Formats: sequence, C-alpha cells, structure tokens
Amino acid sequence: MTTSDIAGVTIRRAAPADIPRMVELIAGANLPPLFIAEYLDGFAVGEQDAQVVGCGGIEMYGSSAVIRSIVVDERMRGTGLGRRLSEQLMADAKAAGATDLYLFTADAHDFWKHLGFVDITFDDWRAEARVNWQYQFVSQNADLLGGEIYTMWRKA
Ligand SMILES: CC(C)(COP(=O)(O)OP(=O)(O)OC[C@H]1O[C@@H](n2cnc3c(N)ncnc32)[C@H](O)[C@@H]1OP(=O)(O)O)[C@@H](O)C(=O)NCCC(=O)NCCS
Repeated sequence: MTTSDIAGVTIRRAAPADIPRMVELIAGANLPPLFIAEYLDGFAVGEQDAQVVGCGGIEMYGSSAVIRSIVVDERMRGTGLGRRLSEQLMADAKAAGATDLYLFTADAHDFWKHLGFVDITFDDWRAEARVNWQYQFVSQNADLLGGEIYTMWRKA
C-alpha cells in the first residue's frame, strides 16, 4: 500500500520506527496513544518530505473493524489528508473481510458524519467487536466521560 498525491503526501503502512511520532500526533490530539505496537499491522501513515504528518489505524475483530487514532498534523488539516487516510483504512478493513466499521469520536463527529458514519449506541455493537479496549473503557465509564463521546458505525 503506497499512494501519492500532488501535495507530495504518500500514504504507506506504518513501521515500528514510526511509533514515537504517531504517539506524539495521537497524544497531541488528546486521543489515547495506547496499543499502537500491538495493532501496528493495521496502521497507516501519511508522509511528506520524510516527515510523518498523519496517521490512523484499524483493529480487526472478526468481520468488524474499529477505526482509531486518525490524526492529521495541525499544519496539514483541511488538505484532504484525513479523508485519504480514512478511505485507505476503510479499504484495508474491507479487504481484510470487514462488514461493519465502528469508531469513537469527540471532536471529529461531523467529519465522520461527512464520511457516511451514523450515531449508534453501545448496544448496537456486534458482540465480536466488544472486546475492543476502547469499547470496554468507554462503555464502562460513560458516566465519567459525559455526553462528549460518540460511537458511530457504517457499513464497510
Ligand atoms: C478530523 C481530522 C483527521 C480531519 O482531517 P483533515 O485532513 O483536516 O480533513 P480533510 O481535509 O481530509 O477533510 C475531508 C472532508 O471532511 C470535511 N471535514 C473536515 N473536518 C471536518 C469537520 N470537523 N466537520 C465537518 N466536516 C469536516 C472537509 O470539508 C472535507 O470535505 P470534502 O472532502 O467533501 O471536501 C483532523 O481534523 C484531525 O486530525 N483532528 C484532530 C484529531 C481527531 O479528532 N481525530 C479523529 C479521531 S476519531
């Protein structure tokens, strides 16, 4: 998987050496920089001039995929990179046999709506996907987190 665009941003699979920069991007966006190495196979990065300027990943649970940690460097937002990363990961999930795509979001709710995701409840998650660590944490701490976290779904 490697695609380039006219802005010179290449999307490629993440490598172990990318992890520190991905942690920086993910934590910098107030998202949990957890279980990256464990799910590295599902991660992609956007690279420009040998710098990682965006990342995101999927975690597969049977035929369910959880999309996570999509972050674009603040200087590159609004250039289409978030969409390219998301579409690449959705295609990867489908190629890996996913029929259902899930995610959690706070700040990017409208972005995901724009990409075809709809709001669901925790009870709407298929049983096979509920072992996902984010599902476990968010569904068990909904009171603590208040109404600021959405869970969303779309068909793969
Ligand atoms: C969400 C994020 C990844 C979007 O990346 P981006 O590169 O700025 O977005 P793009 O330029 O690819 O936008 C793609 C499309 O979504 C739209 N869009 C972007 N942000 C949007 C928003 N907040 N609300 C509604 N639409 C949005 C764009 O207008 C664009 O539409 P088009 O393709 O039809 O022209 C980026 O803002 C980000 O890193 N946010 C912080 C981290 C975060 O919250 N990530 C989501 C974790 S679940």
